[in-house]
Amino acid sequence: MCPSKKQARLAIPILTLLTLLLLCYGVGNVHCSTIHENRVDLQALLDFKHGVMDPSGALSNWTLNSHFCRWNGVECTTTPPFRVHGLQLTGQSLSGQISSSLGDLTFLNYLDLSNNNFVGPLPLLGRLQQLQILYLYNNNLSEIIPDDLTNCSNLTALGLSSNLLVGSIPPKLGLLANLVYLNLRSNQLEGSIPGELGQLKLTTLILGDNRLSGEIPKAFFRLFSLQHLSLEFNMLGKALPSNIGELLPNLKELTLENNMFEGPIPASLGNNALGLQMIDLSSNNFTGQIPTSLGKLSNLTFLNLQYNQLVARNNQDWEFLNSLRNCRSLESLSLAYNELQGSLPPSIGNLSTSLRKLLLGGNSLSGQVPQSIGKLSALSWLGLGNNNFIGTTEGWIENLKNLQRLFLKWNNFAGPIPYSISNLTQLAILDLRGNEFDGPIPASLGNLSRLQQLYLSNNNLQGAIPPNFGNIQGLTLLDLSHNNLQGAIPPIPSEFSNLPQLTELRLSSNRIFGEIPTNLSECQELSVIELDQNILTGSIPLSLGNLATLNILNLSHNNFSGFIPTTLSSLELLAHLDLSYNHLQGEIPINGVFANATAVSLNGNWGLCGGVKDLHMPSCPAVSRSIELKLYLTILLILIFGFVSFVMSVYVILLKKKKSRRPYLILRSFGKKFPRVSYKDLAQARGNFSESNLIGRGSYGSVYRGKLTQAKKQVAVKVFDLGMKFADRSFISECEALGIIRHRNLLPILTSCSTIDNRGNDFKALIYEFMHNGSLDTWLHQKRYSVSAKLLGLAQRISIAIDIANALVYLHHDCERRIVHCDLKPTNILLDDNMNACIGDFGIANLLGYSSSSSSVAVTGTVGYIPPEYAQSVHASTSGDVYSFGIVLLEMLIGKQPTDSMFEGELNIVRFVEKLPRSNVTYH
Ligand SMILES: *[C@@H]1O[C@H](CO)[C@@H](O)[C@H](O)[C@H]1NC(C)=O
Ligand SMILES: *[C@@H]1O[C@H](CO)[C@@H](O)[C@H](O)[C@H]1NC(C)=O
Ligand SMILES: *[C@@H]1O[C@H](CO)[C@@H](O)[C@H](O)[C@H]1NC(C)=O
Ligand SMILES: *[C@@H]1O[C@H](CO)[C@@H](O)[C@H](O)[C@H]1NC(C)=O
Ligand SMILES: *[C@@H]1O[C@H](CO)[C@@H](O)[C@H](O)[C@H]1NC(C)=O
Ligand SMILES: *[C@@H]1O[C@H](CO)[C@@H](O)[C@H](O)[C@H]1NC(C)=O
Ligand SMILES: *[C@@H]1O[C@H](CO)[C@@H](O)[C@H](O)[C@H]1NC(C)=O
Repeated sequence: MCPSKKQARLAIPILTLLTLLLLCYGVGNVHCSTIHENRVDLQALLDFKHGVMDPSGALSNWTLNSHFCRWNGVECTTTPPFRVHGLQLTGQSLSGQISSSLGDLTFLNYLDLSNNNFVGPLPLLGRLQQLQILYLYNNNLSEIIPDDLTNCSNLTALGLSSNLLVGSIPPKLGLLANLVYLNLRSNQLEGSIPGELGQLKLTTLILGDNRLSGEIPKAFFRLFSLQHLSLEFNMLGKALPSNIGELLPNLKELTLENNMFEGPIPASLGNNALGLQMIDLSSNNFTGQIPTSLGKLSNLTFLNLQYNQLVARNNQDWEFLNSLRNCRSLESLSLAYNELQGSLPPSIGNLSTSLRKLLLGGNSLSGQVPQSIGKLSALSWLGLGNNNFIGTTEGWIENLKNLQRLFLKWNNFAGPIPYSISNLTQLAILDLRGNEFDGPIPASLGNLSRLQQLYLSNNNLQGAIPPNFGNIQGLTLLDLSHNNLQGAIPPIPSEFSNLPQLTELRLSSNRIFGEIPTNLSECQELSVIELDQNILTGSIPLSLGNLATLNILNLSHNNFSGFIPTTLSSLELLAHLDLSYNHLQGEIPINGVFANATAVSLNGNWGLCGGVKDLHMPSCPAVSRSIELKLYLTILLILIFGFVSFVMSVYVILLKKKKSRRPYLILRSFGKKFPRVSYKDLAQARGNFSESNLIGRGSYGSVYRGKLTQAKKQVAVKVFDLGMKFADRSFISECEALGIIRHRNLLPILTSCSTIDNRGNDFKALIYEFMHNGSLDTWLHQKRYSVSAKLLGLAQRISIAIDIANALVYLHHDCERRIVHCDLKPTNILLDDNMNACIGDFGIANLLGYSSSSSSVAVTGTVGYIPPEYAQSVHASTSGDVYSFGIVLLEMLIGKQPTDSMFEGELNIVRFVEKLPRSNVTYH
């Protein structure tokens, strides 16, 4: 049966109603989204989302699966038609441009997209008649503020600060009749402040940190309701109206710092704007006296008048200080850098007991600091620097127990630094520079555990640096320069290794002696080291090259000797290096800071040579000429005084020149752990140890030549013959020796290998750099080796002798442990591409001082080279090596081996040379 027409007519409205009801219900539901009545808002939001980059997924639930009223940050009206009422997406890392589609959200009341990374122009929102709050601050929005914005006639709060907006402030903003809050701080707005703003009912006006210029418009002072006026960091100028307090009686905050205001501080501020809590007029050109009326501001917490030209010459001028005692809430007062003169009135002690910051530096205050200042026991920051105060700090300082920063610099305070200063346990910065404090530095300063910066420079302090400074964990800056301090830099590690944050160490111009502690480099944050004008000695520690953040290094006018560590050239941040007037020698590095002649000062070091051209230093000869000359003379001496004196003299001369020897180069910086190489690598590297790659047989095994494929490096591999007695011990001995030594004249070991070979036997090998010019032996005795004629010239022989002597001096005297080589002979002396000699084969080296390994081992050098005493099983000694060195020298000069068949019976190489007719010595 069909429904009647009447029924049908009734059914249609009911159905419509049901649909509507469903729709309305659907707002809170999932299914309604496709049939939005308010499509406009949906489309506007989707368009907005489309233009936005959303790395943190803030808009991830902005999908058609749910009604937009439930999207993140969207708030809708509570009644139909459920339009977007608010959009708040602050601090969501959103970037991209803000679409002007938001201008279609005509029900929008507030829009907050602050603290994101939006760029581009401000969106056009002129149609948002209901918009009251617009916060787009702290983005990167650019271009001008569009006039269009001024159509949002309901706006009450406009926050566009911290963007990149340019152009001028639109005068039409004056049409926003409801505006009470306007913040355009930190943009790039130019021009003058439009007087039209004076038509508004603003309570807050913040235009600071722009490029605004001109005067404050007169109309402005109609802003009767204004509570907060911030115009700081602009170029605004001229005098303030004297009745500013009457015109703006509701002011609570007035910040005009860093402008070009001049004239007097209007007394009306104190007389009329009684609610003022914060006044900042600093860094302007205000003149005249400080009005006593400021004392009426009972709610004043912050008063900053520093950097003006305010005067106080007599008691009347100083009266303001007395009146400020009524500001019982005052927490911060700065009058620094004005023209206040005379002595500080004792009424200073009557200031608010809440005062935490008092800055009076940079005036012309004189006389003693009134003891009453000690009543300001809440002070955490006291600045009295750059005045003419005299007397001591005794009597008041110990009462300021909450002080965190104390600046007394550049006055005439005298007497000892009071012991009681160590009662100021909160101190973080103590600056007593430029006074006449004398006596020792109280060790009790080391108990100030919160200290970060300690300046005691330019006083008359004496005695030593207290060693307990190292206990101050957080110390970042220590400046003790220009005093009469004596003694060594306190030893490390007990002291400075505890200073992990130290960035500046200044000890210039004292009488500090001794060496730089090598562990200074454990203060890894150091960027400034100034130790100039002291009497420091020793060499510049290589470890300074570990200070990656080093920016300034000044070691000038000391007695440093030795060479310039090449490690300094790897410091990328090093911009100033002054090593002038020391006794440094050797070649100047050419890279890093040394490449810039203006950044480096090396004058007054007579032993330096080389370096980049702009340094205008003498170039370095291949062998230093003076050394060559001395050796030449020495060799002549042999011929005159005979063999014994010769050997002893070379050794002794080189020992004496220990400090001035040619630079050691760190050839590589592997630690005690060597890089790993497998047996397979090695076997491959030298053709499975075939005879064709054999380049010699050492004391305990064979030496092969090869190439490491990975490192593409020619190497020599010494394979220990573990069948031989002591070979195992020899491997360990050599590893130990080479593990601790590094010298340009010692054969560099690349790595070691201790494993099982492919037949299951123990396999031990050492891998060295390959020396292309073979051993000294092959050069001295070519007939034995069927190689083409090579001749060593006298200069080369001398250079090789010096290299060997250098290596021995290092082994005997400069090493961590004294090492006796025990087997010095030409086959163990290898020559690199440039004919530099390196001593190799430490297989039987004796590490004097290692109790375990060596002392009982019978010395087993090579006959002919070992001293006669060794035959009586005397323990290995450095003198033994020197004897061997002497034999090698003779061999180099006369070309005969000590084992030559001609030496038999009583005749040995030493006697032979002794008996030679003086004129007959020729070199081979
Ligand atoms: C979308 O995310 C916001 C914030 O996480 C959450 O409050 C809201 O309930 C989510 N909406 C939906 C439909 O999941
Ligand atoms: C603005 O851009 C600059 C560089 O273009 C960037 O360093 C800064 O972090 C950005 N600021 C914001 C709030 O996105
Ligand atoms: C401003 O908002 C109020 C309600 O907040 C509203 O009554 C008034 O109509 C709005 N003004 C305009 C021009 O829309
Ligand atoms: C203050 O005035 C002097 C001249 O009277 C001028 O040289 C100086 O630049 C001014 N300083 C400021 C901050 O306006
Ligand atoms: C000072 O502050 C108090 C508390 O905020 C307030 O009640 C009082 O009215 C203020 N005084 C003046 C003079 O504005
Ligand atoms: C300083 O502190 C010590 C103990 O920490 C105390 O004995 C001494 O009285 C204090 N001195 C002053 C002046 O407060
Ligand atoms: C060289 O050093 C000076 C002084 O430190 C510095 O001003 C200059 O920029 C440096 N020049 C170069 C090319 O680094």
